[in-house]
Amino acid sequence: MSKILITGGAGFIGSTLANYYSKNHSVVVVDDLSMGKQENLIESKNITFIQGSVTDRNLMSQLLEKQQFDYIFHLAAIASVADSVQRPVETHLVNFDSVFYLLELVKKQSGLKRLLFSSSAAVYGDEPTLPKQEESVIRPLTPYAIDKFSAEKYVVDYCHLYGVPTSAVRFFNVYGPNQNPNSPYSGVISIVMDCYKQLSKNKNTFFTMFGDGNQSRDFIYIDDVIKALDLIVNSKETLGQVYNVGTGNSVTLNELIHTIGKLLDKDLPVNYESEREGDIRESLADISKIKGIGFEPKFDIKEGLRNYIKHEL
Ligand code: UD1
Repeated sequence: MSKILITGGAGFIGSTLANYYSKNHSVVVVDDLSMGKQENLIESKNITFIQGSVTDRNLMSQLLEKQQFDYIFHLAAIASVADSVQRPVETHLVNFDSVFYLLELVKKQSGLKRLLFSSSAAVYGDEPTLPKQEESVIRPLTPYAIDKFSAEKYVVDYCHLYGVPTSAVRFFNVYGPNQNPNSPYSGVISIVMDCYKQLSKNKNTFFTMFGDGNQSRDFIYIDDVIKALDLIVNSKETLGQVYNVGTGNSVTLNELIHTIGKLLDKDLPVNYESEREGDIRESLADISKIKGIGFEPKFDIKEGLRNYIKHEL
């Protein structure tokens, strides 16, 4: 039974990971519940929940001094690109400082098997060459992307310089059950699903599309993400490496809305507004590198959406 720390462990990706590992391992979750919800976590004697922020240095140092973890997943973050444009200072504290401080803390932990950091496809920015390989040009456009990229660099550097066992992932657009739709900055698929729920109560509900809807994303279903993370932390060749976590396929937002409409047999009214500042036009992962450690996405967008709908609606 391994001991696992998951920061942001009540959030969408974190709680799914915590629930998954709690079957066979002991999991400690730290979450400030800014976007996460404790109800996302299943009732389990193997899960310990601590409400607090990763920016609280006392909390984090006490936690890591008291306990020796085998695996740490640092998923706590301000997850929205658009939100970071509104709150660059807060974003920096959560998305960069907390990582740097955590690295210093784990430097002293000799038994750690892996620290995994959640970086983002946003680091590639809008340089037009597609698909994005890990070695592609990096052109971060927003406070979010700048912090993710610099934190990711430190994470990898701490492996090479100090022997801290780290890996980083660049998430493309992750979706699935328990993604919180309640902020204007929530993931787009969670917002669309929520609109459908509202539509059954209020006929005037509509989805706000920022831009012309021809922007594209590589949407990856949560179950595939959990598989990817588990593969990475359990492989030796992933040490000090960065991996794209996507499907290798993308759809435009217009296509996405159309596909969901077909699956639900109901159209969602769409209102077009101007695009968001710092928004990326096209995003698509090259997943050759992660395929090299045995990863194969199981869910294409239709299959993922079907599963999500089964869960949520
Ligand atoms: C998303 C993730 C980010 C991750 C990145 C990796 C969220 C909130 N953001 O950013 O954590 O690092 O992928 O690629 O999960 N949109 C609308 N209407 C809405 C909401 C969004 O049109 O109501 C549009 C946005 O303008 C954007 C697209 O949908 O063009 C996707 O937006 P969003 O889900 O916020 O994701 P990203 O910005 O791609």
